[in-house]
Amino acid sequence: MAGATGDLGFRIAQALLRRGAAVRALVRPGNLKPEATVLRDLGAEVLEVDFGSVTALTTACAGAACVVSALSGLREVIVDGQKRLLDAAVAAGVPRFIPSDFCIDYTKLPEGSNRNLDLRREFNQRLDQAPIQATSVLNGMFTDLLTGQAPVVLFGLGRVLYYGDADQPLDFTTIDNTAEYTAAAALDPSTPRYLRVAGEVASARGLQRAATEATGRPYKLLRAGGLWVLGALIRVARTLAPAPEEVFPAWQGMQYMHNMFSGRPTFAHLDNARYPDIHWTSVREVLAARHA
Ligand SMILES: NC(=O)c1ccc[n+]([C@@H]2O[C@H](COP(=O)([O-])OP(=O)(O)OC[C@H]3O[C@@H](n4cnc5c(N)ncnc54)[C@H](OP(=O)(O)O)[C@@H]3O)[C@@H](O)[C@H]2O)c1
Repeated sequence: MAGATGDLGFRIAQALLRRGAAVRALVRPGNLKPEATVLRDLGAEVLEVDFGSVTALTTACAGAACVVSALSGLREVIVDGQKRLLDAAVAAGVPRFIPSDFCIDYTKLPEGSNRNLDLRREFNQRLDQAPIQATSVLNGMFTDLLTGQAPVVLFGLGRVLYYGDADQPLDFTTIDNTAEYTAAAALDPSTPRYLRVAGEVASARGLQRAATEATGRPYKLLRAGGLWVLGALIRVARTLAPAPEEVFPAWQGMQYMHNMFSGRPTFAHLDNARYPDIHWTSVREVLAARHA
């Protein structure tokens, strides 16, 4: 596993260990994060490796049944870093690779509509050419973001902010559910190229209902405008605060919301049922936990 001491990766590694898998966490030299200690205590092998060296990565990948990447970053990580990891996995004869996608369905989105997803599309084109069985897990938006970064459920104002159509279905999955599912997929040798999951599919109106039920306080809808308004706001935010080195600057989150409200990446079918032991956490449960 690469990225096992990150937020999602740490949870994937733990889910793998719970399922009885042998986990080798590849970490950068000098990684002193408490997550590394926890993984070691839980029985994982934590191996320091130079992510810039395909040779070192190849040695580190030896004997693995599947390489799982939960790396996060921009081009140097998602395209260049994952390419080195892919080359290493192929050289080591690893049969399967799960890239760090974990997002909305970029296969349905036009190039240029979301910088971070363009990088994933680019890496996956290379992955498709490699002699290895690849599986991407697409999970929509992390439900957890509704209680933090994503300005959609406005707790102070009692409003659900949206653009475009209040009935547009949106895909949400918690970080924990994404991790559990990815662990199950990593241990399943017959996964297809893409697996699409959503803990809940909810429109803005559905979020309004969930917020009302979760808090016991009536929420209203707040339509900020059509999608063109959000498009204009993205251009302004990107001009005023480009932050080109940041993985998730404000305008990037807005691109994500624009993509979702456009309906283009909405999953046509879900693969949730593939691993029936997973309990899918609803939006209401996530909002209620914040409220408790
Ligand atoms: N769908 C959604 O709503 C959503 C939201 C957030 C994230 N995600 C996706 O989930 C995935 C994981 O994100 P996260 O939030 O777990 O990220 P994170 O907490 O920042 O963890 C990223 C991991 O990547 C490692 N890493 C970063 N740069 C590296 C490099 N150059 N070489 C080697 N390792 C490197 C980090 O190592 P250290 O531990 O040493 O720092 C860390 O383990 C990403 O694909 C991200 O885009 C999806």
